[in-house]
Amino acid sequence: MQKTMTASANERYHRVIEQIDNLPALPSIVTRLIRVVNSPDTSAEDAASLIERDPALTTKMLRLANSAFYGIPRSISSVSSAVVILGFNTIRSLVLSASVMKMFSGNNEHTLDKERFWKHSIVCALAAKIIVRHFINVRMMDPESAFCAGILHDIGKLIFNEFAGEDYKTACEYAMNNNIPLLEAERIVLGIDHAQIGRILADKWALPLDLEYSIVFHHSPGEADKLTDLVTTVHFADIVTHQAGLHLWDDEVQVQEWAESKSILRISDSDMTKIMETLQESVEKSLEFFNIIK
Ligand SMILES: [Fe+2]
Ligand SMILES: [Fe+2]
Repeated sequence: MQKTMTASANERYHRVIEQIDNLPALPSIVTRLIRVVNSPDTSAEDAASLIERDPALTTKMLRLANSAFYGIPRSISSVSSAVVILGFNTIRSLVLSASVMKMFSGNNEHTLDKERFWKHSIVCALAAKIIVRHFINVRMMDPESAFCAGILHDIGKLIFNEFAGEDYKTACEYAMNNNIPLLEAERIVLGIDHAQIGRILADKWALPLDLEYSIVFHHSPGEADKLTDLVTTVHFADIVTHQAGLHLWDDEVQVQEWAESKSILRISDSDMTKIMETLQESVEKSLEFFNIIK
């Protein structure tokens, strides 16, 4: 049985790797915006004039900036005010999330319930942001970078779903039937897991290092040779999100080893209680974000 599964995994692995050549490039507005927001000479107008070239993106950004999601007590009527008030890193999150949702919004449903997938990702992003902002004291780590990293951490699952749909269905069913974590089932059935396939995407899209590392190491933060605080935060936020019941399917099994990251991030038991409480509010907020951005 094991032998058959390994042979098939080999075939499936090659199919997935061949298919990934069809992965579209990131829209040029997004790559340019990432470059622009990373440059110290950029002004809010530079970023705004890029965003304004895309009417759909402009509408989404203004709707979100004026929604309860950010809770800004004044109305924002222009993209440049949105950029000033929300900041470059938030803008980067919004533009990347909107683009990725659009790119993977096809009818290619196969296995993933996209709404559940995004709910998990957005709550994880909110958890990562809350953890950085309120519970750990790590200088140089921007809560918005943690949010963006959280949004994209599981993007490898979307790639499998889009480019290896039938094979991914087999992997998900294998995880369900054998009561094992999906990550393990991906390795057994496809010969590659969603974090590893995420590395291929990060290379192809030339994603910034903070996002690449969060995608590649969110299940193995100990293997990251830099940005370990960020990667550990996303790893921890992911576990917390699963702990709050936000899975891909109802009884999805998770690896629940959070003790190490909890101690690395110096999160106390009373912090944990508060984090779990804030997560309940995040679930509602995540739907608002999803409905505007999708
Ligand atoms: Fe994951
Ligand atoms: Fe996750």
